[in-house]
Amino acid sequence: MRKDVLIVGSGGREHAIAWKVSQSPLVRNIFVAPGNGGTRMWNVPIQATDIDSLCNFAEKQDCLTIVGPEAPLELGLVNHFRKKGLPVFGPTKEQARLESSKAFSKEFMLDNGLPTAKFKTFSNPEQAIDYSDSMEGNIVVKADGLASGKGVMVCSNREEARNAVRTIMVEKAFGKAGNVVIVEEKLSGSEVSVMAMCDGSDAMFLGTAVDHKRLLDGDRGPNTGGMGAYSPAAGLPEEVLEVVMEKIVKPTVRKTGFTGFLYTGLMMTAEGPMILEFNARFGDPEAQAILPRLESDILDPVMSACYEGSLGGSSSPKWSNLNTCSVIMCSAGYPLHVKTGAEIKGLKFVDSENGIFVFHSGTRFQDGRPYTSGGRVICVTGMASSLEGASGIAYAAVGKIHWEGENHRTDIGRARNEVP
Ligand code: AMP
Ligand code: GLY
Repeated sequence: MRKDVLIVGSGGREHAIAWKVSQSPLVRNIFVAPGNGGTRMWNVPIQATDIDSLCNFAEKQDCLTIVGPEAPLELGLVNHFRKKGLPVFGPTKEQARLESSKAFSKEFMLDNGLPTAKFKTFSNPEQAIDYSDSMEGNIVVKADGLASGKGVMVCSNREEARNAVRTIMVEKAFGKAGNVVIVEEKLSGSEVSVMAMCDGSDAMFLGTAVDHKRLLDGDRGPNTGGMGAYSPAAGLPEEVLEVVMEKIVKPTVRKTGFTGFLYTGLMMTAEGPMILEFNARFGDPEAQAILPRLESDILDPVMSACYEGSLGGSSSPKWSNLNTCSVIMCSAGYPLHVKTGAEIKGLKFVDSENGIFVFHSGTRFQDGRPYTSGGRVICVTGMASSLEGASGIAYAAVGKIHWEGENHRTDIGRARNEVP
């Protein structure tokens, strides 16, 4: 049975998912709503948060729908589609609270004995400051709600911690996402992201990656949505991964009935893996790093989950043993004051073969020419038999692409990515 597939979203993650789906023998037509310059052959002009229009489109076109970003999940896209009997791969609004409310997520971890940093939740800034003072400011302050990966501030002293609380709760840098904050113990170690596909009762491992969230080389500067990633993650032995799947991911799926991509962000500490966060979706740029390594079909398990309610029938994924390194090229001013509208030059000099994959995010085409239209613009993934080789390939391609104000990190795949 070949199906039409609708992918909701407009980022590099959605470009990577659409690219992977396009290789499936099970797909007939692909649509991306609203998509970006890289998916222009598949785009339909419906915003990712326009649930009614998406629903009408999927119904009329008889599509299987895969949801990329968190915003439509939080708005209840999946609840809405299910009510209409439309096949959709993603979590309900209630399940997506694992990501959309950090307070809910931390309480869930605590109630279910999942390993995570100690924390307290506050809706009053003075109380949050008193608590962080009592911890000598050696803490992490997190806005409760969605803030595109930017609402987390890692602090090292009282002054920084006080400023973080004020920025989020008083100045409302992330709007109402900061009405409540979580103040948590700062963990040391290296970070890894573990992806899984879930069918409501079981989970299938879907790769690991290391994301580089800080804006600047050497893991300095503010947190961003992600400046690059590599896959597979170094420093995650097979037996630890097994523990993560059996003791963290699968119990979470069973307890919540989660369907869709589940992203577990972990800190590998001296006491073992600790959960930093759950995301109710594939990571971006993790998808751009992981999917080129996936040799087996992605649509087969998605269809099994959506039509049979179980991943069971689909065989476990096959992986290339090559490494990938994905470098994000972003607009001037990202992540705070993004400048867009610059013409992107040099794309045509990048050969999207020979281990190079160019995934678009904030791009649009006008009169056949590409322009920047968002903070993160292009993700270049290199693939080779070593991480060093993959990074070399990615950066050689990055060097050919440019626009006014373009910015990227020069150490993806080489930074230690550790919190001391
Ligand atoms: P989150 O969105 O909760 O994953 O946080 C974003 C980033 O902040 C993480 O990728 C870590 O680099 C950092 N971070 C979050 N929580 C902690 C913690 N408890 N200790 C140290 N760093 C953290
Ligand atoms: N790369 C981090 C995220 O997708 O949340």
